[in-house]
Amino acid sequence: MIVLVDLDSQKSVRELLAFSPFIPVVSISNINNASPITEALLEADIGIIEVTLRNEAALKVIQYIVSHYPEIIVAAGTVLSVSQMAEVVDAGAQLVISPGHTDDLIHTATNNSIAYLPGSSTVAEVMKLRERGYLHQKFYPAGTQQGLSQIKACGAVMPDVQFCPTGGITLENVQDYLDLDNVACVGGSWVVPPDLVAVENWAGILEIAQQTMAYIDRQVDAETETAII
Ligand code: 3PG
Repeated sequence: MIVLVDLDSQKSVRELLAFSPFIPVVSISNINNASPITEALLEADIGIIEVTLRNEAALKVIQYIVSHYPEIIVAAGTVLSVSQMAEVVDAGAQLVISPGHTDDLIHTATNNSIAYLPGSSTVAEVMKLRERGYLHQKFYPAGTQQGLSQIKACGAVMPDVQFCPTGGITLENVQDYLDLDNVACVGGSWVVPPDLVAVENWAGILEIAQQTMAYIDRQVDAETETAII
């Protein structure tokens, strides 16, 4: 028997993703950089951050941002194992994100009502997650022409599944993704480039974050206007 994800945790994923059309994907290896990066994002009106588990500081960074900046939603990304899932939930992450999924991760998220955004990249994976009730999925890696057409094709056969594509998305192609009816939001790391972090250029990061939000807001507004006309 397939155990379905409970509706409440799916509802919170839907609400968290609806919060912003863009999720910055950020790796912070030095805890001292957590404040300036979070503050730059907040100043650019980005109310959500995905902190990736790609270095040893990540868990502490999640805890730090959760306790010092309650105004930003903290998602934990690159969650690859059940033990990492438990650790990020303990650290206070409100959303758990994986680039793909495993049966154990799905089982644990489902049994513990964890707000979980599992990743998919093929029709079979999208179907499997959908069968378990996961109607919101990360699509990774998406930033190829094939990714765009795959998401489009999934929309034709499973229009009830909404995606958050990431991986290779840039300001040049972000509009193509946001134009799709089955894209809830997009994610990307371009807003916090490692070279600017290395020289502590927080003003530079703020500028990219503001440009990104201005651009994305324009696309979203244009889509809404077209829908009304
Ligand atoms: C992710 O974890 O979502 C990706 O690594 C982000 O991909 P990007 O670096 O190409 O934006």
